[in-house]
Amino acid sequence: MSNILRRGRLEAVQDEEIVQYTSSMEADRWIFNADIVVDLAHTVMLKEQGIIKEEDCSKILSGLLKIQEEGMEKLDFSYEDIHISLESRLIDMVGEDVGGRMHSGRSRNDEVATCIRLTLREELLDLLEELFVLRKTLLALAGKHRETIMPGFTHLQHAQPTTLAHHLCAHESALSRDFDRVQDAFSRVNLCPLGAAAFASTGFNLNRKRTQELLGFEGLLENSMDAVSSRDFLIESASVFSNLMINLSRMAEELVIWSSSEFNFIELDDTYASTSSIMPQKKNPDTAELMRGKTGVAVGALMSLLTICKGLPLSYNRDLQEATPNIWRSLETVRASVRVMEGMVRTMKVHSEVLEAESVTGFTTATELADTFVRETGIPFRTAHQIVGMLAKEREKPRLEKIDSVAEVVLGESLSSRGLTEKMVKEALNPVSNIKRRKIEGGPAPEEMKHYLSKRQSELEINEQEIAALKDIIDSAFENLLAVVEEYRKI
Ligand code: ARG
Repeated sequence: MSNILRRGRLEAVQDEEIVQYTSSMEADRWIFNADIVVDLAHTVMLKEQGIIKEEDCSKILSGLLKIQEEGMEKLDFSYEDIHISLESRLIDMVGEDVGGRMHSGRSRNDEVATCIRLTLREELLDLLEELFVLRKTLLALAGKHRETIMPGFTHLQHAQPTTLAHHLCAHESALSRDFDRVQDAFSRVNLCPLGAAAFASTGFNLNRKRTQELLGFEGLLENSMDAVSSRDFLIESASVFSNLMINLSRMAEELVIWSSSEFNFIELDDTYASTSSIMPQKKNPDTAELMRGKTGVAVGALMSLLTICKGLPLSYNRDLQEATPNIWRSLETVRASVRVMEGMVRTMKVHSEVLEAESVTGFTTATELADTFVRETGIPFRTAHQIVGMLAKEREKPRLEKIDSVAEVVLGESLSSRGLTEKMVKEALNPVSNIKRRKIEGGPAPEEMKHYLSKRQSELEINEQEIAALKDIIDSAFENLLAVVEEYRKI
């Protein structure tokens, strides 16, 4: 059959290069299934509204299911997009007098926006599930390492002792905000543009609410002009993905540093490592490095989307076709990264003895020593800070005698004369008691971590139920749609 779209207004047969240049067929693989589902829902509604006849509806529905079964590969890739290629295939199957009625009251503009939203909605739910697993793994590992002391860093310099649990939970906490952001983005993606047609809606008496329900969307994108022209939901999602990817990249960076001989805090499982083609001894943390690198894909996708959408007049412009693949590229990268990070963290070997030994390197207990001076002798913190700072210049561990001589210089009196004892000093320099003292909310003390972890676990369980509830709504909408399709097919 001649090209069903171009046979009216246009004459010139397009040059192969122009076809390639303007087609979205390759990227439309992502929305093949969504397009069938959207066609099914639209056809059902057309019949219910008396816009098409029952027998035509039945034939169209059967044709669509057949096309779905045959798969995307059976379609003609010389069309400019999936929508027109699919319609053309349908017309081939059931004839134009029937198949040619499916597109009544619809444009590819509202069709494509609906397909993107349907597909993205599924992807966001899968991403939420994957994030859930990663967070669960981090919390489980943290549960095992409540007592594993390690140095905490600022400026990548040893700063204060903390625990591995505390460190892992910091990452989990950031990821939980990413989780919230994905959920939030989901609520704006999960709206139905169908019925907007080209932009001005249609004179056919469509039932927009009905297609919205059949497709399991939470609500309508009401203004028909906005419905076809807005892609802020893509920008928002891409921005959420970028943030998430940046959090993963920071974790990946730590895995790289921690696997170096200088740190030697962890060893990644061999699956995630590569070796050198020349240096046979090498075990490189390539997977973590690649994750850092792939962050550029997510950030790049966001930049592309912003740039493509900037300055577009209302309503639909073909530029928008160029926007869509960015979200798929970003999604693929982000979802894989979440899964891979989960595996890396779950299987890595933790060198607890190194972490413990390093927890005091660089006089990490200095803050606690200054705090002890304040608590035990009543001197101001700023004065204690000066005394400990002067002590820190010396290489060896500060003893009471040395502390007193520095205090004499700074204060004009010793701290032992104000009640400081050798035992107090020893206690302050002990990393384990440092951590035990840090038991206020959010601190690393093992007993506080226990409460914290159980709170996080409960939040995670709530998140798990939230994902299940969203999935249920969509699954039952699709079940219902298929049941209606079956019923109308049999007429
Ligand atoms: N392939 C197009 C896209 O992704 C579908 C909409 C085409 N609409 C149009 N008026 N040419 O945006």
